[in-house]
Amino acid sequence: MRLGVLASGSGTNLQAIIDAVEAKKLPAEIAVVVSDNAQAPALERARKHRYKHICLNPRNYKGREEYDAALVSLLQRERVGLVVLAGFMRLLSRYFVREYEGRITNIHPSLLPAFPGLNAVQQALKYGVKITGCTVHFVDEGVDTGPIIAQVAVAVKEGDTVETLHQRIHSAEHKLYPWALGLICRGKVRVEGRRCIISD
Ligand code: GRF
Repeated sequence: MRLGVLASGSGTNLQAIIDAVEAKKLPAEIAVVVSDNAQAPALERARKHRYKHICLNPRNYKGREEYDAALVSLLQRERVGLVVLAGFMRLLSRYFVREYEGRITNIHPSLLPAFPGLNAVQQALKYGVKITGCTVHFVDEGVDTGPIIAQVAVAVKEGDTVETLHQRIHSAEHKLYPWALGLICRGKVRVEGRRCIISD
């Protein structure tokens, strides 16, 4: 399976995926890493590991449709079979989601459907939940609404700040995302309506 990883920031999930691919725990190739931010450390991680990496700067495109059209043609050129969102901070257009329907995954730092959208860790702390976590899901046209592939719970501790809690959620993400991608790459995930059926 050829992966196209989209990342805007530090890219620690990208790093976990790179490590899993290189350790042969994840049967996939990283075809390309794309960022909308030229300064993203994620690009530097890709460079270090000699993966193709590209910044598509939104300022060079007239709008979302034009940007997403460029993204689609890039991913097609690289024969990407699965689009992996790893901290990609742009909403994808309906056009993009339809082009790659059922072949886009995302990781979100909460137990969806709780706390979708931005600042999920802050939302969870503010709400006062005792358990939160992370979710890997397929991407549909909504915001964090697609079928859930896998989740891990993380306990909220007394005195947690957004930073300390996000750190523990991040550690959980680094195990969960490569594992969930492995299930997809091995053909173990079937979607029936809202449910992902995992076979062993
Ligand atoms: C993660 O917390 C992920 O859940 C969210 O964005 C963050 C990306 O972190 N979608 P990183 O760039 O992989 O370190």
